[in-house]
Amino acid sequence: MRQRMPGVTEMDWDALGQSVAACRACRLCEGRTNTVFGVGDLQADWMVIGEAPGENEDLQGEPFVGQAGKLLDNMLAALAIGRRKGVYIANVLKCRPPGNRNPLPEEIAQCEPFLRRQVELLQPKIILAMGRFAVQTLLQTTEPLGRLRGRVHRYHDVPVVVTYHPAYLLRNLPDKAKAWADLCLAQEVMRKLS
Ligand code: URA
Repeated sequence: MRQRMPGVTEMDWDALGQSVAACRACRLCEGRTNTVFGVGDLQADWMVIGEAPGENEDLQGEPFVGQAGKLLDNMLAALAIGRRKGVYIANVLKCRPPGNRNPLPEEIAQCEPFLRRQVELLQPKIILAMGRFAVQTLLQTTEPLGRLRGRVHRYHDVPVVVTYHPAYLLRNLPDKAKAWADLCLAQEVMRKLS
């Protein structure tokens, strides 16, 4: 692993985006077409955090643009929010793991400071963590996702609600009802805050 430039913790959105685009801190940079920084409303109350770019995201440079992204957009629409207004979407990893393999711990360790700064800059009122890697990274735990659902956690003081990854839901349709319950919990947290 090579060292990344210092200073991420002080960067503004532009500098952070440039730093991600230039990042060569792990070997994922060698296979990428684009880095995938994040997309959405910089004034958003909601932040969605996924795992890592897939093939379509790597090609387009935007998170959740494939089939899983369509499902995510529909889930967000049910909450009357979307990537243009009300929500900001990012991943734990900003580069695609080859063949969509699972992120490695050292890749997560190198990339997480970018995510942490995104959260600091956005200051969301709630984070929806989607899928095992996002959940376990944010909550610093190895507990299975199923045991973490249904209650409110914290990531650097921001409330976190965990739910299944949309790609998983596409393969496990019956669990969509559980994901809907998770979204309702997140909405309830937001309602109490306002
Ligand atoms: N899966 C993710 O976790 N993130 C994306 O951007 C696309 C698929």
